[in-house]
Amino acid sequence: PQRIALFGDVLDIASPPPAGAPLDAIPDGVHWHPDHWLLIENGRVHALQAEAPDASWTRHEHRGHLILPGFVDTHVHAPQLDVIASYGTELLDWLNRYTFPTELAWADPAVAQAGCEAFVRQLLRHGTTSALVFPTVHKGSVDALFTAAQARGMRLLAGKCLMDRHAPPGLLDTVASAERDSLDLIQRWHGQGRLAYAHTVRFAPTSTEAQLALAGELLAAHPGTYLQTHVAENRAEVEWVRHLFPHARSYLDVYAQHELLGPHSVLAHGIWLDPDDRARLQDTGAVIAHCPTSNTFLGSGLFDWRGNAERGVRLGMATDVGGGTSLSLQRTLAQAYQVAALQGQRLDAYTLLHSATAGNAEALNLGHEIGRLAPGHVADVGVWRWADEDSLLAQRLGRAQTLHEKLFAWLMLGDERLLVQTHVAGLPQL
Ligand code: GUN
Ligand code: ZN
Repeated sequence: PQRIALFGDVLDIASPPPAGAPLDAIPDGVHWHPDHWLLIENGRVHALQAEAPDASWTRHEHRGHLILPGFVDTHVHAPQLDVIASYGTELLDWLNRYTFPTELAWADPAVAQAGCEAFVRQLLRHGTTSALVFPTVHKGSVDALFTAAQARGMRLLAGKCLMDRHAPPGLLDTVASAERDSLDLIQRWHGQGRLAYAHTVRFAPTSTEAQLALAGELLAAHPGTYLQTHVAENRAEVEWVRHLFPHARSYLDVYAQHELLGPHSVLAHGIWLDPDDRARLQDTGAVIAHCPTSNTFLGSGLFDWRGNAERGVRLGMATDVGGGTSLSLQRTLAQAYQVAALQGQRLDAYTLLHSATAGNAEALNLGHEIGRLAPGHVADVGVWRWADEDSLLAQRLGRAQTLHEKLFAWLMLGDERLLVQTHVAGLPQL
């Protein structure tokens, strides 16, 4: 058997503390094991122990380092690494000016292949081991992405973008080609190793009613597949949807009418929803992926995390690169904290870290497999420095009195530069 043992400060968050709970003591759902060995056998967590394992285990000593579950990103665009940090626009103009031109280049399978290799490498260099990903409309982009993820043994969810109107001709499919390509891709990739297929409706404005209906049929016909899209991100977008779908009660209702909402559905943003929409999300079990760096960068609005959570809406945390400004989950969580703070809410470090790990795993219905470092889970792991020597973070950590204080400073001030190693199913990747 393949036996690997990682030594360090192991943190595994099964559940977040109740809102407003005191943070001086370590909450019940937080499993903190400083100076412990994480034993990994055949790619899965075997045990967590203080005693050193015997010589049958290959040891990796990371004394004084933080060992976390690999991060999970519930919404990110592979082709958009090339448009991250593009200046000066809101969503609809940003799509036309920057995003669509870049995605057009992925019609060339060689471009898509190089792009997907770079994308997967960057995920791992940010400590992200799983993601729900938008490639492009082109079938070859899905082959390229799944091939790159499979080579690393990553748990990755994706599917070809469905878009048959309101985009440049080179980015459009048709209902017939979308069905043909989707069926072929599902047959070749869904359930292969750790890969799963996600029907990927770009957003309501770029699909006809016939294509939305097709997506609903594909989702129903293929159990275990996912549905991903965007909803209610930006006010001009919401207005456009109202105009395009006069018979829908709301933007979310467009998706509801086409049977696209269920426990395997992940909708990015969800800023401009009303109480009826939130009730519909709760009833169907559909997930909203919160994308804080994107929402502030594109000026889309402030997502109400606590309000949605209290109404029973399932939530995920996501980078939304390239609308988002970083693949780093630390930076994303720091921005989520600030978006909440602007609304008078406080998200504690345990809640934030949980959302990027076990919380996102559960949002993808993969809580049994990823997001935790408990026995039986696949050993997707990030090994992190607490701080760089002589850094402001190091100075701040020196003053910290509690684990919460340390973790909070680490999230606010840390990023991918602190990464030491990423393991996927036990195997080091960097
Ligand atoms: N809505 C439709 N397409 C996109 C996209 O690529 N990024 C974001 N943030 N929103 C979208
Ligand atoms: Zn997006």
